[in-house]
Amino acid sequence: MKVTIDGKEIDVPKGTTILQAARMIGAEVAPPAMCYYSKLKSSGGYCRTCIVKVTKGSTANPTPMPKPVASCRTEVMDGMVVENFTSPEIVEARKGIVEFLLINHPLDCPVCDQAGECKLQDLGYEHGLAESRYEFERREFDMIDIGDKVKLHMNRCILCYRCVKVADQLTDGRVHGVINRGDASEISTYIEQVIDNEFSGNVIDVCPVGALTDKTFRFKQRVWFTKPVDAHRNCPTCSGKVRLWIKGEDVLRVTARKDQWDEVEEFICNACRYDHKKKSDWEIEGPSPVNRHSVISQNQYAHLNQQKLEQLKHQSALGFMKIDKKP
Ligand code: SF4
Ligand code: FES
Repeated sequence: MKVTIDGKEIDVPKGTTILQAARMIGAEVAPPAMCYYSKLKSSGGYCRTCIVKVTKGSTANPTPMPKPVASCRTEVMDGMVVENFTSPEIVEARKGIVEFLLINHPLDCPVCDQAGECKLQDLGYEHGLAESRYEFERREFDMIDIGDKVKLHMNRCILCYRCVKVADQLTDGRVHGVINRGDASEISTYIEQVIDNEFSGNVIDVCPVGALTDKTFRFKQRVWFTKPVDAHRNCPTCSGKVRLWIKGEDVLRVTARKDQWDEVEEFICNACRYDHKKKSDWEIEGPSPVNRHSVISQNQYAHLNQQKLEQLKHQSALGFMKIDKKP
């Protein structure tokens, strides 16, 4: 099936969504996605940040679609023509969506643990208005401890359902979800009951904002002052492939590795995430690629060239750091 997105054509298999096709072309045409997550079944369709304009439905029926569609939920038809960044209407409409997402979300980036890694922060900078037109009181909730390792700050939740899908698809016996409807919706505190599962920590990695944070890392460090490195260990439960966030000699945080779409490459177990916070627990492979254009890219390894890698290897040989570049 041929589809053209922002003037670029690609051939994709039947059943591919517009968003997936756009990602196959590349980041220059791919719409942002706050709720879709390719590794979680039935995700998407909640946030509307991925809207696009279909200017030609298909070769068989060229009628344009009458209004913007969620690209993560709309399948490609043969001959379809789609506009994303090339449509001023879509860019303008997306600004409105960001404003809606920020209606209840506090603008507390300076004190939020997710700052620098937050998709909503990025979207806000890219599309947002400098001030809110919302005059009503924002929703406020008490912070909740979800088990001893995860903190839920519901004020920041944008109800993307990703954590619900993680609990549903990665842990046994899900008993949490979104309760109530409309502006009364919230993540149910029944989530506390699944948090003992050995994959429950993945709710932190999939949360696009600072609503679910790692209590073992909270307020320890701004993320842009840490150095991310890819590392692995022989783990009996998961792949053991992780990202360590290091400052000096300390491993401050362990997360799953994320790809260019900010999605987890492989979900990791709680033992890797919480119980192995020493460099010596890990085989360090090397600096992690950091693709984000937000503040997190600062002070990282993006500029590292081969020469610097050689330096690291030299240090490794001196015993500072073990580098094991696996093919
Ligand atoms: S807590 Fe985070 S992952 Fe869960 S629904 Fe809210 S924003 Fe999404
Ligand atoms: S990413 Fe498509 S609706 Fe949220």
